[in-house]
Amino acid sequence: MYLTRLIYTSTISASFSADDIEDILTTARKNNSKNNVTGMLCFNKKYFLQCLEGSRTAVNNTYHHILNDQRHTNIIMLDYKEITTRDYTGWAMGYMPESNLTTAFTLKYSGVSSFNPYDMLGESAHQMLLAMKELVPVNQES
Ligand SMILES: Cc1cc2nc3c(=O)[nH]c(=O)nc-3n(C[C@H](O)[C@H](O)[C@H](O)COP(=O)(O)O)c2cc1C
Repeated sequence: MYLTRLIYTSTISASFSADDIEDILTTARKNNSKNNVTGMLCFNKKYFLQCLEGSRTAVNNTYHHILNDQRHTNIIMLDYKEITTRDYTGWAMGYMPESNLTTAFTLKYSGVSSFNPYDMLGESAHQMLLAMKELVPVNQES
């Protein structure tokens, strides 16, 4: 099964509540562990930026579930690639909260200081998500 990586961004829906993030992470980590999907999710109380990696089938199935989730809207794929190795082995879904999104960190990957993944190149989003690995612990779920 080929390895693939998908990166998308989205915006919270009007019905989104702060508690939803815990629920999203619990479900994501449970399902992803079962399906050998790994990745990273970043959230700043307005936008999501997420990387999913795994088999082509598993990544696409997961993305289809995510597309139908009413908790977010305006879901835009930023990057989709066949890859030779995973970047997030060990992260059933890493989570980077807003507190780590400093101005300097955001400026490194985009033209503006506020986090807005819709204005980012797919490759910048990939590099930004990769850098998050250094800021969040592996196995957050345990
Ligand atoms: C921003 C966001 C990220 C999500 N990430 C994942 C994910 O990585 N894996 C996953 O299985 N579900 C994820 N979900 C949840 C799915 O949209 C969906 O609720 C879930 O796959 C349904 O699982 P269930 O059929 O076991 O209830 C995410 C939802 C949102 C809003």
